[in-house]
Amino acid sequence: MPLDSTLFRTKSIDKLIAESELPGHRLKKTLGPLSLTALGIGAIIGSGIFILTGTAAAGQRFVGHSLLNAQVFDLVRSLFRHGNLSGALLDGRPAAGPALAVSFVLVAFACSFAGLCYAELASMIPIAGSAYTYSYATLGEIFAWIIGWDLILEYAVSNVAVAVGFSGYFNDFLRLFGVAIPSRWAEPVIANGRWSGAYFNVPGFLVVVILTVLLVIGIRESAGTNNVMVAIKIGAILTFIAAGSLLIHPSNWHPFAPNGFSGILTGGAIVFFTYIGFDSVSTAAEEARNPQRDMPIGIIASLIICTILYVGVAIVLLGMMKYTAFAGGQAADAPVAYALRVLHSSHFVYLMVVVGALMGMISSLLVFQYGQTRIWFAMSRDGLLPPIFSAVHPRYKTPHWSSWIACLAVALPAGIIDIGTAADLSNIGTLFAFILVSIGVIVLRRTQPERPRGFRVPFSPWFPLISVFMCLVLMAGLLVVTWIRFFVWLLIGLIIYWLYSRKHSEFYVQNANAQETGK
Ligand code: ALA
Repeated sequence: MPLDSTLFRTKSIDKLIAESELPGHRLKKTLGPLSLTALGIGAIIGSGIFILTGTAAAGQRFVGHSLLNAQVFDLVRSLFRHGNLSGALLDGRPAAGPALAVSFVLVAFACSFAGLCYAELASMIPIAGSAYTYSYATLGEIFAWIIGWDLILEYAVSNVAVAVGFSGYFNDFLRLFGVAIPSRWAEPVIANGRWSGAYFNVPGFLVVVILTVLLVIGIRESAGTNNVMVAIKIGAILTFIAAGSLLIHPSNWHPFAPNGFSGILTGGAIVFFTYIGFDSVSTAAEEARNPQRDMPIGIIASLIICTILYVGVAIVLLGMMKYTAFAGGQAADAPVAYALRVLHSSHFVYLMVVVGALMGMISSLLVFQYGQTRIWFAMSRDGLLPPIFSAVHPRYKTPHWSSWIACLAVALPAGIIDIGTAADLSNIGTLFAFILVSIGVIVLRRTQPERPRGFRVPFSPWFPLISVFMCLVLMAGLLVVTWIRFFVWLLIGLIIYWLYSRKHSEFYVQNANAQETGK
């Protein structure tokens, strides 16, 4: 068989399910609908709502004439009009203002279409690995590799951002008790592309190491811990909404949308980060007790609950202070805590919110580290990654090597870089994964129409197509430098595929063996 045909070979879904049942590869089936929803909320509400809300509302310095003020649209326009890209790169992003609440709804809308697609595939292919596994079953090996590689942006890179955010709020928390870690040991070493003077971000590093120990001990303990943290962070967000609503000045809501739709769009592209995670429920499919019914419930329920909370936070926060107040400094780094502090909210409320934010970040870190290891686990089982990634601990039955490798991949950068770069890169990678999953639904409806689906996306192919379109629009709202980084990342991935994975892939090995026998 020529090499080309191995690149596009798809896995049989029956075989995928059978392989996951092999002894030594089997994961414990312990998760029900409540745990799955909690897993989703645990992943969704992380550092984003507590950190990015301010920047998205206030915008960043912006100059020049623009089409919707989205850099990607400007590049395309410049290319068609002038045949070159000069002058198209703009500096900054427009403010969403209080209309950030609309951005949240817009993004939730986009995510729900993608969420429905995830739910269909997860209920049909209840195997660890999420979008990676789905694309192996639908689009072919090369796409599966690309998506698996791309998902590192969604899981590991977003966790770098969350760990950095954790460090900031943890320092705030300690200060409440008069304790201060020297800033050289508690801040990013590189901020906005420059050396900040700091040596290492120790809290950001340590939190990932500690959580990895939990993950290695096992899913039962980790999911239980996650449930408690989810309850605490929802409580903290509700406390903020209740306490903050007493501090609202309705005049702050005017102008509601200072930059119209362009602000709403680019604001949405930033706060998309706050929704990343609902799809990670699908990475736990192999450990769900009844995936056919519970996966869609877990994904959709966690999405709805988080949207309500996010819109509440945006409306209250931007009613408490004018959106322009969040343009820089501490107000941009920790807008929620800042607004409470400046408006002299009670000490108790402040403590509740900071602790809740910390819990939010911890549970998000937990679920993403978990998801990352399960994706590597699946890729290794298919031969695309070395066998060590699917080795299961003899006693705890968890992929312990993967967990420690993921720990280092997240903890080390978290000790060094800042949150902004990691969040944007994570957004573009995740949106790309959503697009491939949505296309996967359409492909599978045609190639395997008879296969039972615990959940079906209504109005297919229109809903999956809407999902693709909305993800592309959000991607267009990201900075061009993010697109460049994304392409470089994909290129590195393709080189690794060419040098290693292609030759170790299960299909390639089978093919080589068959040729050997035929000689
Ligand atoms: N959605 C996660 C967060 O906001 C990644 O931190």
